This record gives sequence, C-alpha cells and structure tokens, in this order.
Amino acid sequence: MEKTLEFIAKEKIIPVVKISNIEDTLPLMNALKAGGIGIAEITFRTACGADAIALASKNCPDMLIGAGTVVNAGQAKKAVENGAKFIVSPGYSQAVCDICKQNGILYLPGCVTPTEIMAAMDNGINIIKFFPAESYGGLAAIRAIASALPNIRFVPTGGIGPGNIKDYLSFDKVFACGGSWMVKESLIREGRFEEITKLCMDAKEHIGQ
Ligand code: 3PG
Repeated sequence: MEKTLEFIAKEKIIPVVKISNIEDTLPLMNALKAGGIGIAEITFRTACGADAIALASKNCPDMLIGAGTVVNAGQAKKAVENGAKFIVSPGYSQAVCDICKQNGILYLPGCVTPTEIMAAMDNGINIIKFFPAESYGGLAAIRAIASALPNIRFVPTGGIGPGNIKDYLSFDKVFACGGSWMVKESLIREGRFEEITKLCMDAKEHIGQ
C-alpha cells in the first residue's frame, strides 16, 4: 500500500479510462506511458473492464493499474484477482472497503460530504476521491472541508482538466487529480493513440512534470 501511495503521489494525475474493446487496452497503456503517465484507473463501466485490468496488469508491470467504478464486493474481488493495485468507487461502499482491507490494497472511495468522509475515516481511510469535484463545489468546497478535517487528503475527480488542474494541485491537501480529458472514449474508440500521448504530455508539462 505504501508503494502505491508513493506512486500516485508522484504521478499526480490518474487517468480514468473506459475501455469498450479489449484490443484497445495495450495500445492505450503504451500511449499513456509514451506520454509520461504510468498509472491508469480502468473502470468497470464496460463489459470488458475486468479483462482489461487483467491484461494491463500482466503486460505492463511498470505501470500502476487500478480498478475504477467498483460498486460492489463482487467487482472488488474480481479487480483484486485480476491484479488491480488500487480500487476506486464513485461513492463509499463498506463491502468494497472490506475487500480492500482484507487484501491490503488502497481504496479510494468517492466522498463529498463530511458525513461520508467520516464513514471512510472510521475505516482507517484518510485519502478520498472527491467526486464529482466541480459539481460539488470544487476547490472551495475541498478547502472548507479540509479546514474541519485536516488529516484528509483529496483526489478530486470530475470536471478536472487543463483549465483547473493546477489550481487543485496547488492546495497541499490535494493528493492527486483524476480525470478523463486525455483518454476520452472517442479517442480510444477511434484508435487515436498518438493524440492521447500528446494530451498526456501536455498534461504533465502543464503541471510542471
Ligand atoms: C470519473 O468517474 O472519475 C469521471 O468519469 C472522471 O471525470 P471526468 O470525465 O469529468 O474527467
């Protein structure tokens, strides 16, 4: 878990990926790597999401592959079996949390209210996905919550892009940011992997990496 946290802290950007065709998995991972991004949250939003996690985990040992949109225990188990190194949910799930604990892997639950964050804290979690970030008050909301809950770190996701990522990352309670702007579904579907690489490079440069 420590290594996972270090990796994410270094990467700063977590691409949230939706893969509809399993064949796109490795070209996409290569495109991310070529663009300087060594991490991917592969979501369970498609039928092949779990297989894509397995494929990427097996073939890209230098990357940190996690599972996203994990909403129940069954998906969490599958994600762990398939090699996911961290699990992300849009909300807080006790069942998913328990599986992550049993397997010693990082769980980033989606929380936006202090009550949700306190539920996470009760389970030893101090880093949460603040989702959907822009709709739930953005950085101003994060700052307000952080003043009451100073031990919490945030991974804002939802509505993050080149126009606001630097602002988010400039707040020291923001651990990393998630987003899909460099891995848009249409780019993946149309095989525009060079554009994905370019968007990743731009994103890294933009945040000064
Ligand atoms: C997610 O579920 O994490 C989002 O799809 C990412 O949000 P974005 O598409 O607004 O970047």
